[in-house]
Amino acid sequence: MIIAVDGPTASGKGTISKQLAKYFALPFLDTGLLYRAVGWTLREQGGDADNPADALAACQFESALLSDPALRSEAVGGLASRVSVHPQVRRALDKRQRDFAYQPAGAVLDGRDIGTVIAPDADVKLFVTASSEARAIRRFEEMKRRGDPADFDDILADILKRDERDKNRATAPLKPAEDADLLDTTDLTIDAAVQQAIAMVNAKISGRRDKDPA
Ligand code: DC
Repeated sequence: MIIAVDGPTASGKGTISKQLAKYFALPFLDTGLLYRAVGWTLREQGGDADNPADALAACQFESALLSDPALRSEAVGGLASRVSVHPQVRRALDKRQRDFAYQPAGAVLDGRDIGTVIAPDADVKLFVTASSEARAIRRFEEMKRRGDPADFDDILADILKRDERDKNRATAPLKPAEDADLLDTTDLTIDAAVQQAIAMVNAKISGRRDKDPA
């Protein structure tokens, strides 16, 4: 079974995906980390995120980088969003994601274009959203917990800028697949959102079994 989870930054899709992977005993890939690794490598190489050749050169990173906590910073997230605009970068990361999605054990992947581009025939597609204010509050609280300096207005502005870039890029923009189920987490605790996601996956699987009993 392939579960595709897409949505904007800080919508809760990361936690939801991890919990779905645990609940359904499936391997999990946070595809945002791949773009973050490119952004981080580009910065190390002194490249320009808006230059497609520099961004493509940064796609040659070591897999060990994917577990480096440095990838989680806001600055690297911003760079990831900028390098992800280039079709060359998306192509360079495409095979790795498809191979993960279509492994025999099944998989949960979270990102922006999993249900639309990477695994268009995924068994279940969830599009997780929340208002920009709710997402900014979550990000603000997360940064304060980590002891990072946090300014709410800056965080909100950054979220809006990233949404704008992710939604409006020409290649694989952030948008729900036509057959995706929407999960709005604005007024949900994370536990309630996870329970709702599990229920949505179960409903989808049992609906499919009813349609195709063989
Ligand atoms: O999910 P995240 O915040 O770690 O992702 C960082 C950026 O990477 C995001 O702003 C856009 C890009 N990204 C993408 O274009 N496609 C994906 N499947 C995942 C992330």
